[in-house]
Amino acid sequence: MPTPTSSHPWPASRVRQTFIDFFRSKPGPGPQGHSFVPSSTVVPLDDPTLLFTNAGMNQFKPIFLGQADPASNLGRLRGGRAVNSQKCIRAGGKHNDLEDVGKDTYHHTFFEMLGNWSFGDYFKKESITWGMELLTRVFGIPRDRLYATYFQGEPSLGLEPDIETRDIWKSLLPESHVLPGNMKDNFWEMGDTGPCGPCSEIHYDRIGPEARGGRNAASLVNTGDPDVLEIWNHVFIQFNREDGGTLKPLPARHVDTGMGLERLVSILQNVRSNYDTDVFAPIFAAIERATGARSYMGRLGQDDDGNIDTAYRVIADHIRTLTFAITDGATPSNLGRGYVLRRILRRAVRYGRQMLGARTGFFSQLVPVVVQHMGEAYPELRKDPARVENIIREEEESFGRTLDRGIALFEDALDEAIDRAISRVRIPRAIPYGSPSLDAREELRRVKEKLAKREQVVLAGPIVISSEDAFKLHDTYGFPIDLTVLMAQERPYKVTVDVPGYDGLMAAAKEKARSGGAKFTAATGRIELDADAIARLAHMGVKPTDDIDKFHGRDIRATVKAIFNGLNFDEHTDSASNVDLVGIILDKTNFYAEMGGQEHDAGRLAVTRESRSGPSDLHAGGEFRVDSVQSFAGYILHIGHLVKGEIRVGDDVQLSIDHGRRSAIASNHTATHLLNLALRETLGDGVDQKGSLVAPDRLRFDFSHPRPVAPEELAAIECTVRDQIDANQGVYAESAPLFVAKSVNGLRAVFGETYPDPVRVVSIGARVRDLLDDPTSALWLDNSIEFCGGTHVQSTKAIGDFALTSEEAVAKGV
Ligand code: SER
Repeated sequence: MPTPTSSHPWPASRVRQTFIDFFRSKPGPGPQGHSFVPSSTVVPLDDPTLLFTNAGMNQFKPIFLGQADPASNLGRLRGGRAVNSQKCIRAGGKHNDLEDVGKDTYHHTFFEMLGNWSFGDYFKKESITWGMELLTRVFGIPRDRLYATYFQGEPSLGLEPDIETRDIWKSLLPESHVLPGNMKDNFWEMGDTGPCGPCSEIHYDRIGPEARGGRNAASLVNTGDPDVLEIWNHVFIQFNREDGGTLKPLPARHVDTGMGLERLVSILQNVRSNYDTDVFAPIFAAIERATGARSYMGRLGQDDDGNIDTAYRVIADHIRTLTFAITDGATPSNLGRGYVLRRILRRAVRYGRQMLGARTGFFSQLVPVVVQHMGEAYPELRKDPARVENIIREEEESFGRTLDRGIALFEDALDEAIDRAISRVRIPRAIPYGSPSLDAREELRRVKEKLAKREQVVLAGPIVISSEDAFKLHDTYGFPIDLTVLMAQERPYKVTVDVPGYDGLMAAAKEKARSGGAKFTAATGRIELDADAIARLAHMGVKPTDDIDKFHGRDIRATVKAIFNGLNFDEHTDSASNVDLVGIILDKTNFYAEMGGQEHDAGRLAVTRESRSGPSDLHAGGEFRVDSVQSFAGYILHIGHLVKGEIRVGDDVQLSIDHGRRSAIASNHTATHLLNLALRETLGDGVDQKGSLVAPDRLRFDFSHPRPVAPEELAAIECTVRDQIDANQGVYAESAPLFVAKSVNGLRAVFGETYPDPVRVVSIGARVRDLLDDPTSALWLDNSIEFCGGTHVQSTKAIGDFALTSEEAVAKGV
């Protein structure tokens, strides 16, 4: 295999620049030359119809649709022409090449598309003749290795054959090199909707007519032959595919071409694979350094023993995709394009670990080589490569934690699949069968060995990894289903995965999540324990949480009793567990769960676990950030994200609440009580609490009152509260028997609310004990006394200050 170096006459950088310069120098009959328009980002943040930028024309879509603002940079291109090299990703969505990457020599998830455009300016003739001029005269490609296709028409859609294009090609190429093509190959569409039109593809035959017998490759065009490949597509945009599928003619006709840079470079460097060019050579060298694997040898399929070269191709392709996508603002996640990126990353990491013996971290180490070799053409790569590297490293580490266990589970699942497939087999005589005393397990082992060696074994049925195992690999170990399928395909004998069954389990899990069962959505950031989950907790012997420590809020230690992923209870969670939010249940807590209008606490849980390196090694545990705390039937769910490490059931954790948030909430809660009292003093006894919200940054108090509160009344209320704050009154809280507490003069309870017995009494300026000693005393009418389970400051001065910002009716009489 020739090893291309940058001393090659056509390094990729020169090919790219030559293309751009060629079209810049082509002003032609139109009003202006081709403007260089830099590549748009590979993450089309403003086009919800696309996962990733999949073609150079994406950024020009508004011009084709006549929607570009004439005063904008895009709008000014109308009637003109443009050229560039566009960063593209084809993974997920309509144009998806992910499954082919690594297996052949010319598919990529990330590639560069060289393109030229006419926006209502020149059309077919110029586009095709300039294309031929560039390929044959500038790049020196022999004409007789080129083949061209044109659209044969589709009568059922009223689409005519593209005779004009056919005839242009016939004037440029031998007639036998001009071929008709159908909708699939010769009608290009950007996505389910968007600009589209008939297209004409240029294909190149790597072998050529010099081959013995004077080869004509026409029959190999569009058949997936690695030596006959499409290099350039010229699309004649004339329609918009609308929602619902109709094709609506556009007011003007446009040209949109796209040529795969990597393919063109492979042709000009005279190698048989894109991966044998200087585009990939530096990345392969970096992979070799990072993993210590043998050098890349370019082997394919069965010849690629141990899938080593496949792994090289996959990893090199995928690091380009991840580096560009993250640079342009995407991040691996559980949703949408983020999940496509996560799948791509996990695919690469698994190949590296399993095929090349790489260590976790190898993948992120490849970012610099991509930046170094592509940073000149795409300067954005140089802005903050450390950020890109960090994001990839964190993802890699988190998947790395479950990867080995997932691979082990896969092997077990495969063993079971084989057992199922051969349990009913009649072993043919050809297989040495051993003595009758041979036990059944030994027999099984031998049959498996035969299978592994691809010797003839009669199977009673296919070897199928069960849907349950595939689901578990996804759910617990973070193996995307396509990764499991890929691992099955790597076996030397045929193994499949029950994907329909897996889809069913996924759909059921999602449905369960949706339909009032255990509720969990990343979008709402909520996890809820429903009746079923609560019953399961009780069945597991988990008791409702003791939350007495919430009132003092100081750090405590507690034991993890259950880990809830929104659907099920897990034994452990780590950042690779593939869930966005997790709910942790402990035996006791100092966190305040959202209740009675008071917002929940936030904070963190820290696990320290004994490890070999010391009795209390932080790294052996984990850290969990608590974003929300909710109570369900006495079970307090600490909801949040694992920040690092892992948490297991049975772990001893330290609970620390966010004291800043807590004290801001406490101030507002005590102020709410003072406001309640001030309202009664100013507006009279008719004022009854109808609801409240106590947040860290504000409070809201709903009360019954038949008319708007006058400005002077508001001023008086505000004054009363401030006076109480200034008076620095003590705030007291104690439990009391309900019937005694209820008799306290001036007590404020919310009408219709049922209170526990004993009930917690919060009073300001008078000790609860004193109230209970003399409940009917008229003295208490001047004090705030409420049944309340919330958290408060110790004395009113701590509130600081108080201001009313608005007063309005939220309902009639409220
Ligand atoms: N948009 C067309 C394609 O992607 C030509 O660039 O093939």
